[in-house]
Parts: sequence; structure tokens; C-alpha cells
Amino acid sequence: MLLGVNIDHVATLRQTRGTSYPSPIEAASIAEKAGANSITVHLREDRRHIQDLDVYELKENLILPLNLEMAVTKEMLILAKKIKPKFCCLVPEKRMELTTEGGLDVIAQKSKIQDSVEMLKENGVRASLFIDPNEEQIIAASEILAPCIEIHTGNYADTHDNNTKKKELENIKKSINLASSLDLKVNAGHGLNYENVKEIAAISGIEELNIGHSIISRAVIVGLSAAIKEMKALIDNPVINIANI
Ligand code: PXP
Repeated sequence: MLLGVNIDHVATLRQTRGTSYPSPIEAASIAEKAGANSITVHLREDRRHIQDLDVYELKENLILPLNLEMAVTKEMLILAKKIKPKFCCLVPEKRMELTTEGGLDVIAQKSKIQDSVEMLKENGVRASLFIDPNEEQIIAASEILAPCIEIHTGNYADTHDNNTKKKELENIKKSINLASSLDLKVNAGHGLNYENVKEIAAISGIEELNIGHSIISRAVIVGLSAAIKEMKALIDNPVINIANI
């Protein structure tokens, strides 16, 4: 099972101060060296974290495949056509949400999503549809010949009730089996962290997990000691450069 690392929240931190750091490009390069299999960014319509320039620069500099998450809008489709990431994950987007809150309703927007998948394919981009673990939505994704789906694991990840968790896990397993039988490639993600990933990682049939918030959060904790030591070294010896510490 592959790991796609979502680096949106590196940009979230940068945007809170309008600085040039932390750099998503630098983060992607670290992720690459650490064994990530792809890099994901979500270019949201409100540009709250990742900016257009980040996506262009990542496409230019990354060795790993770039997975661009985006809403199914004319603006985003034009951008995807220009940037040509390897993968494009189509997601629903609401302005006021803290993060993506659920899967796409493929059934309700069948022809619009089908046209988008086809347009992306013509431009060499593999589309993936972010959908809930729901049989009807998976069948609709297959009917419009989507090459790939990403199963939304948010409901599984967010519940604290064991019975609901079990039910969600069963739903996810059933959905993956159905999607595989329909020849859809299957990714999964949202809300996965160092506790709840194990049960998902044990399911066969998932090509890639896309994980962001928990990894960037963990990086703050495991990287804080080195960051403080570097600052102390600079204060103690102001003539040295951070690159030489
Ligand atoms: N997959 C999709 C489609 C998403 O929208 C997101 C969040 O941007 C993720 C995966 C990653 O979710 P998280 O940040 O909770 O790991």
C-alpha cells in the first residue's frame, strides 16, 4: 500500500503570517526522501493554504507524482489542464467547511463529472473521485468510467463509538471489494492518524492512502527539538549560518 502525503497544512502555517516559510516545496522534497509515494495538495477555491504558484512549482520540481485535489469547477479544470498533474482527485467543496466534509455526489452530477473525467483523461491526467463508502456512488463512478476512486474514511476516523466504527470499517471493506470487482483503482483517506490507520492499512485492495493533517501535526512534535537547538546555536554563535549547524 502506497502513501500519498498531503502537504496543505505546511502552507496553512505559512499563510497565517504571510511569510515565505515553511515552504511546501521543501516539505515535498523531505517527504520524497522519507519514502512518500506521491504528494497531494488541495487547491481550494478560497486559496486558504496552497496557492496557484505552489502547484506550478511542485509540478516543475517534484520527482514524485503530484496529486491535485480540486473542486469540479471550470476554473479548476482550466488550471488542471495547464498544470497537468499526474493525478487529479475531484472533491466537493464548501466555503465554510474546516476540511472536506464528505464525498462527491456522483449520482446527482453524473454528466458534469463524466465530462470532467474525460477532459482530464484527454490531457493525460488520471482522475479520481473522492466518494463515501456507498454502493450506489461506486456504481455511478464505474458507469462514468472513472479510472479511480478515493474512499472517504472521515466517518470511520471521526467516530468515537466502537459500534459505529465497526460499521464504518465494514462499509469501507465492502466498498473496496465492490470497486475492485468493477475494475476501479481504489485509494482511501481523510482523518487517518497514527492510531486509526492500522485497521485501514490491514485492508487489501487499497492502492494508496492519502494522509495530511496528522503527519504535519506529528512533524511539529518530532521536529520541535531540532528547531529549538538550531535557534539556540544561532543565538550563541550569530556568525554561523543555519545550513552549517
Ligand atoms: N483525501 C482527500 C480527498 C482530502 O480532501 C483530504 C484533506 O485535504 C485528505 C485525503 C487528507 O485528509 P487529512 O488531512 O485528514 O489526512
